[in-house]
Amino acid sequence: MPGKTFYLTTPIYYVNDAPHIGHAYTTVAGDVLTRWHRQRGERVWFLTGTDEHGEKVLRSAEANGMAPQEWCDRLVESAWKPVLRTIDAANDDFIRTTEPRHTTRVRAFLQGLYDAGQIYEDLYEGPYCVHCEEFKLPGDLKDGEGEYAGQLVCAIHGRPVEQLSERNWFFPLSKYADRLLAHYEEHPEAVEPASARNEVLSFIRGGLTDLSISRSSFDWGIPVPWDPAQVVYVWFDALLNYATAVGLGDTEGPGVEQYATTFPADVHLVGKDILRFHAVIWPAMLMAAGQPLPRKVFAHGWLLVGGEKMSKSKLTGIAPATVVDHFGSDAFRYYFLRAIQFGSDGSFSWEDMSARYTAELANGFGNLASRVAAMVVRYFDGELPAATDPGPAEDVVRDSAARAVATADEKIGALDFSGGINAVWELVDVLNGYLTEQAPWQLAKNDVDRARLATVLWTAAEGLRVLAVLLNPVMPKACAALWDSLGAQPVLGDLAAQPVADASRWGQLPAGLTVTKGAVLFPRLED
Ligand code: MSP
Repeated sequence: MPGKTFYLTTPIYYVNDAPHIGHAYTTVAGDVLTRWHRQRGERVWFLTGTDEHGEKVLRSAEANGMAPQEWCDRLVESAWKPVLRTIDAANDDFIRTTEPRHTTRVRAFLQGLYDAGQIYEDLYEGPYCVHCEEFKLPGDLKDGEGEYAGQLVCAIHGRPVEQLSERNWFFPLSKYADRLLAHYEEHPEAVEPASARNEVLSFIRGGLTDLSISRSSFDWGIPVPWDPAQVVYVWFDALLNYATAVGLGDTEGPGVEQYATTFPADVHLVGKDILRFHAVIWPAMLMAAGQPLPRKVFAHGWLLVGGEKMSKSKLTGIAPATVVDHFGSDAFRYYFLRAIQFGSDGSFSWEDMSARYTAELANGFGNLASRVAAMVVRYFDGELPAATDPGPAEDVVRDSAARAVATADEKIGALDFSGGINAVWELVDVLNGYLTEQAPWQLAKNDVDRARLATVLWTAAEGLRVLAVLLNPVMPKACAALWDSLGAQPVLGDLAAQPVADASRWGQLPAGLTVTKGAVLFPRLED
């Protein structure tokens, strides 16, 4: 059987509303990381999808006068799947929790726990936040403000919680506390960044309470196999998507091998608001079923608006297409990963994005690419010349390329996207400085400088080759256009097949390639 596939997941998104750029942010990060791993030559599986059960989705369907399944179908097709194209995500699979491949496997999983004596019946009494779909602890609540003054509200949503009193089925989460602590002791890399790890450890050390895993007051969910009057709690259902999508529990068919080579996830990307579900409940469920644990849960920060988490319910959500229509999908992907340290919160502003677009993409990278191509076309009729007399200035460029490759690979592998892109940008800056110093447009004026001119343009083109390879996971459209303009495809093959590890091997662009001017990578924008 082949070795382990690099398996990355995004959270599955609630279909109570349309996506905003906070949701797209998680998916973009996952897309960049999986493209990077593909260019490392690894087999990769990138899963995303939608979380369709539960009270929150049910209520939005009702508010829109639709049956819940019909509502989900409509939102998935009109909003959630299209946003993947908007942001240029290349996911391998898209799971919906209403699909039979999910619901049957969830039922089998739960039945297995029940048969093993891991599920018991009890009364749940306490607060519940429908917006979080979460049973709340006293510490999760705060005093309400404004119209909710005098009430206890959810600390995340600022909205009142509901008091539930239901006979439910329970999962004995509390008994996994010691094993979870031992696991995180032994695998410090399993929750990142450090702030997330500390939060998880102190939460577990504070003591875990058993978890109600069913609801009886509404029916939009997966029926509990032995008690059809109850539906499975939406988080218990949703977390299992990471396993059901790759064949959990299959004993025959393609799921057997897929599960064996793919599960567990190498990275679960999550926002910090859903960290505990992924780093406490999910591994405990897997422990209970004797399944392997995720290798890493990485909690990123929030996109903020006015200092608060961007959200549709607070009407602060910006649709991804609004930003992409203006700047393009490449700039969207680049901006959020470079401007915000992954793991920290960050604010989006049109002004900041415009400024970076112009300085870094249009003037920095785009202009570099178009100047080099234009000069090869102009001075060598579009035929890439050979570098016949490389010297110290060329060594500086080559060394910078080697550094960019090594540092970017290390940083992006560690989910430090902005660190990785910064490392690549040092090469952009070195190449721009090199052109300014070597002034090929001056060399072109004298025939005696022809060999220098050829060397400078070849070196710049070779630097662009390295940039195309390294930036392809972040900006696939612009890099494809650059690859085209360098005429590299016929000799080196597809851009996405260029291994990162080989990117800094100098001298891959042979003289004689047909270089063309190509499209402007980042056109100047009207305000
Ligand atoms: N359905 C659950 C996840 C189940 S995973 C088994 C859920 N869905 S969600 O649609 O509310 O959120 C999905 C992801 O989007 C979460 O990781 C959340 O952190 C992220 N974001 C939602 N708003 C966000 C911002 N404003 N900024 C960054 N990420 C945000 O939770």
